[in-house]
Amino acid sequence: MDARVEWQVSRLLAPRHTIWLMQWDGGDDYQRRFDALAAQGKDVHGEADFVSGLAPESVLDAGCGTGRVAIELARRGVEVVGVDNDASMLATARTRGPGIEWIQADVTALDLGRQFDVVVMAGNVPLFTPPGTQAALVAGGARHVAPDGFFVIGFQLGRGYELTELDQHCADAGLELDARFATWGRDPFPGDGSYAVSVLRRST
Ligand SMILES: C[S@@+](CC[C@H](N)C(=O)[O-])C[C@H]1O[C@@H](n2cnc3c(N)ncnc32)[C@H](O)[C@@H]1O
Repeated sequence: MDARVEWQVSRLLAPRHTIWLMQWDGGDDYQRRFDALAAQGKDVHGEADFVSGLAPESVLDAGCGTGRVAIELARRGVEVVGVDNDASMLATARTRGPGIEWIQADVTALDLGRQFDVVVMAGNVPLFTPPGTQAALVAGGARHVAPDGFFVIGFQLGRGYELTELDQHCADAGLELDARFATWGRDPFPGDGSYAVSVLRRST
């Protein structure tokens, strides 16, 4: 294991349920790291646990990557749709979750013509959308939130997209903050200030 990968994996484990990666080489490589953690007995389903706590019947996993969150929610009986614009990530998702609807699309321009009980963006999605497209990313998610639904987004702080921007983009998209946590395990915000999970509802 080279030093860069070792550093990334060490960050996976602390704090609990704050799972993130910044670099990987294709969908299989991304997923392999989570599989390795799971094989060691680590809990890699903090995001799915969090979303399950909102008791949704339907979930849009926006920026689903390899389907790590969506596949676990489907296993728990939730109707899920996964959207990502990266073909390699989706190829892995399709292999691992063949019964799930996977859509290759840019969330910034997404219009599926339906809404979901929860729209979740897990794993730093706003840090991977092209710079300057975060407002459209949030709006793309917001379009798909049912009237009584939730928009849930978790990402690393101090890496170029901050909560002041998220809050403004959510307000612009007709969402208001319902709760904010420091981790997917619902630790109180701000915790160590390095991560935030925000839960939003429709304001209009
Ligand atoms: C770090 S991965 C997280 C994947 C997954 N949500 C998870 O938690 O394992 C970030 C994903 O966001 C996707 N993404 C970023 N911007 C996007 C956009 N504008 N539209 C669709 N997908 C996007 C990337 O392709 C990538 O698969």
